Amino acid sequence: MPHNLPIRIAPSILSADFANFGAECRAIEDQGADWVHVDVMDGHFVPNLTFGPAMCAALRPHVRGVMDVHLMIAPVDPWIEAFAAAGADVITAHLEAGPHIHRTLQAIRGTGKKAGLAINPGTGIEPVAHLLDMVDLICVMTVNPGFGGQSFIHSQIDKVRRLRAMLGDRPVHLEIDGGVTVRTAPLVAAAGADVLVAGSAVFSGGSVDRPEVYGDNIRALRQAAAAATSQVA
Ligand code: DX5
Ligand code: ZN
Repeated sequence: MPHNLPIRIAPSILSADFANFGAECRAIEDQGADWVHVDVMDGHFVPNLTFGPAMCAALRPHVRGVMDVHLMIAPVDPWIEAFAAAGADVITAHLEAGPHIHRTLQAIRGTGKKAGLAINPGTGIEPVAHLLDMVDLICVMTVNPGFGGQSFIHSQIDKVRRLRAMLGDRPVHLEIDGGVTVRTAPLVAAAGADVLVAGSAVFSGGSVDRPEVYGDNIRALRQAAAAATSQVA
């Protein structure tokens, strides 16, 4: 389903230089990133471990725009206040992270932040139908969460199409996370996605000393996606 929402590119700092996060955030925003996507992993819900609220708070002064925090942690509820206080603008929790996603989304909105709902590749959309008026963003995982650089799972494209139709005219972002490249970006944009998370596809070949590569990568993704929705990038 084509849409008129502007395409937003959200580089995942999981693919950035971990010794240089502040400069990396400034570099991607200077080079045209719309949002900064922060992947929080707990070594339990997903088989990898990254960073917590203290890291987000340290990053905050280096991010001018939207800090999009993707929580791949279980339990998630005890951490919501801390990530809100750390300066997240969007806090996304996984439907699979616990038995009470409805309560989790209420808690996120209760902090005054935008609430995101992420679903894994193996999760269907029926449960999401009961949560449509509680979310500002739905994140469709197009890889199994835990690592950057994995291959895009094509079976998720139809899920994106059905979710966009289900959302109707609600002002909800449909975000894609995992395996986004210039080849897959048009497929998901045409299906109804408007926020594209990209780790490897933004950071590969660049560095804080060669930030123009980030700019080239971001522009290439935006153009590929916008062309698929008949937008002018
Ligand atoms: C995966 C993370 C993604 C990941 C995307 O668990 O949620 O944000 O970093 O990385 P790429 O774009 O390399 O697939
Ligand atoms: Zn993510």
